[in-house]
Amino acid sequence: MRRLYIFDTTLRDGEQSLGITLNVKEKLEIGRQLVKLGVDVIEAGFPASSPGDLESVRTIAREVKGAIICGLSRAVPPDIDCCAEALREAEQPRIHTGIAVSPVHMEKKLQMTPEQVVEAAAGAVKHAKKYMSDVEFYAEDAFRSDPRFLVRVLEAVIAAGATVVNIPDTVGYATPWEYGELIDYVMNHVKGIENVVVSIHCHNDLGMATANSLTGIKAGASQIEGTINGIGERAGNTSLEEVIMAIYTQQARYGVETRINTREIAATSRLVSRVTGVPVPKHKAIVGANAFMHASGIHQDGVLKEKTTYEIIDPEVVGIPRNSIVLTARSGRHALKHRLEELGYRVSQDELENVYQKFLRLADSKREVFDDDLHAIMGHAIANGNGIILENLSVSSSGATAATATVTLEIEQQTVTDAAVGNGPVDAVFKTIDRLVKKPVKLEEYTLRSVSQGSEALGDATVKVRWNENSLIVGRGISTDVIEASAKAYINALSKIK
Ligand code: KIV
Ligand code: ZN
Repeated sequence: MRRLYIFDTTLRDGEQSLGITLNVKEKLEIGRQLVKLGVDVIEAGFPASSPGDLESVRTIAREVKGAIICGLSRAVPPDIDCCAEALREAEQPRIHTGIAVSPVHMEKKLQMTPEQVVEAAAGAVKHAKKYMSDVEFYAEDAFRSDPRFLVRVLEAVIAAGATVVNIPDTVGYATPWEYGELIDYVMNHVKGIENVVVSIHCHNDLGMATANSLTGIKAGASQIEGTINGIGERAGNTSLEEVIMAIYTQQARYGVETRINTREIAATSRLVSRVTGVPVPKHKAIVGANAFMHASGIHQDGVLKEKTTYEIIDPEVVGIPRNSIVLTARSGRHALKHRLEELGYRVSQDELENVYQKFLRLADSKREVFDDDLHAIMGHAIANGNGIILENLSVSSSGATAATATVTLEIEQQTVTDAAVGNGPVDAVFKTIDRLVKKPVKLEEYTLRSVSQGSEALGDATVKVRWNENSLIVGRGISTDVIEASAKAYINALSKIK
């Protein structure tokens, strides 16, 4: 079996492209979970892009051990210097530098000749090698380049010391057979290719990122780049969980092995969704809520007789427990802890008490507490604790007239109350919170969805607010009262503004 390295770029191509500002704490949480999942490389950010990104990469480099920590840079010395500085404390650092190689990018975007591009590419790798031995080169828009020119660039960067060469389909234009052919061409024409790792990086504009990545692996690539839940620029990047499970289910066909702990896939997907505020579609392969549900009578009958009739993956393999037990207010701390552990949460004795009190409040109001409710409680426990506490909330609205909200908050140990009128209850609550918190933000997105079953199911609110020009902050709030969930989400977002 050939070793396949898994390169996760959720925190770079995933996060940056969404325009969402994850704070350092959130990035660290994802970084640590990626280590549990067993990825080989974590691309933690693009340090030269902003002081915030520099700080995040630096913190992840210092705190997250057990994977290569990588930073992205353009093929210019100041970017590379900044990247090296951010990675200084990493156990296993890697600089990922590169330049575009397709005619349209070179001529229109870079306004450089092919000669200048080859020189800049080799120069960037040489510069990065002054700082560390592990240097990856990306040939941006490689799929739309002239393959003979691509070979020239790759030979130049390999001669300059690149240890990994990345052949991206930057705009998601390839079909599986064409992408496979390009990787095959590179494997057979580039001098020195046998001494480096060939990496593939696909985008999903035509819905083919996973298929393209798999043909790249078949053609001999030994590193695959992608993101959790497939988040990323435009239609997203390759979903790592899809590629991992495609290989898992038919390993002999691909002839490669990874060190991924597949049982951490569901927990990683949930975490990325919660922190980024990007929901996972119900029908999403591997991690969607319906991915292992059998609805038709014929299918249910088949599965009851023999699971493999309609199931190609045991959900437990990706960390989704098969038989969800239902907890009620009669369930004790032990049963709750046991269930939380089955769902992948480790809670200390102190945390358990806090979570148990939340669980009891919920069980009192909705009788049966399902796994999704527990995920929501856990997500909520993590999202809270940012310094602003919702003490009290009352809203009056009679449909035809404007709504009035009265809100009491605790901000830095001070209790403050105010009221405002709005266009509907949620608007009134947000306006009141604005008056109290005094952080001028623009609400860009507000969504409310129900978690789990029943009319008393938890409402899960997500808000995205714009703070400054380019920082979009996500807040989540959960409650059986949807107005309270909305207030908590808004407060959660405002609390993250420093
Ligand atoms: O899609 C792409 O080409 C990239 C590179 C910067 C690696 O994300
Ligand atoms: Zn990309």
